[in-house]
Amino acid sequence: MSRSDGEAGAVGGEAEGAVPPVAGEDRPAAAPADDRQTALLVRNIADGDVEAVVDLWERAGLTRPWNDPRRDIAFARRDDHATVLVAAVGTAIVATAMVGEDGHRGWVYYVTSDPARRGEGLGRRIMAAAEEWLLARGVWKMHLLVRAENTAAVSFYEHLGFSDGRVSCLQKVIRPDLVPARPEAG
Ligand SMILES: CC(C)(COP(=O)(O)OP(=O)(O)OC[C@H]1O[C@@H](n2cnc3c(N)ncnc32)[C@H](O)[C@@H]1OP(=O)(O)O)[C@@H](O)C(=O)NCCC(=O)NCCS
Repeated sequence: MSRSDGEAGAVGGEAEGAVPPVAGEDRPAAAPADDRQTALLVRNIADGDVEAVVDLWERAGLTRPWNDPRRDIAFARRDDHATVLVAAVGTAIVATAMVGEDGHRGWVYYVTSDPARRGEGLGRRIMAAAEEWLLARGVWKMHLLVRAENTAAVSFYEHLGFSDGRVSCLQKVIRPDLVPARPEAG
């Protein structure tokens, strides 16, 4: 799926609303603990979300100078093997996960929640939606790449049931001319 190098992130292009809503996410909970949660909707990214998603990724530190996030989003959306799921409160995007399947396994990238709303369950919610997206396609196993130094993210994923697969991630650029140019150092 994602053909970028974005360990933190991934790809998507389906019509808004194509993801079956998680039970209860499109209607108020019976006894909401937080009014902001009642308006939360997890759905596929729409054209009008792109700038808000890029803004969130920049604030969350997920972007890299050599990776164009808009290109990554467009690439993810080019067919139905991947998408970017967003958790939205009105027009505000408060969490994302790029999810896709490669014909064998599921992958997730660009997982984040709004830095101002950490610890509210948004990360768990968007990961659950990514799992549902994969299960709806018959994909029963989910993989992700995370930089080893991102210990907080590793702990988060372990808390959600992920474990280190003890595999090496080997990479090869098969078309160097297609690699986005990296900015000069210094
Ligand atoms: C990692 C991240 C997505 C977590 O989002 P969040 O919205 O704060 O997470 P939630 O509030 O949904 O937490 C879900 C659960 O994980 C736990 N959790 C959250 N962060 C954790 C951490 N660093 N270590 C261990 N557990 C953690 C919570 O306690 C909660 O537990 P519970 O549901 O059993 O009570 C968020 O911190 C983030 O966006 N980080 C920066 C971007 C990033 O590094 N993304 C990963 C790229 S690979």
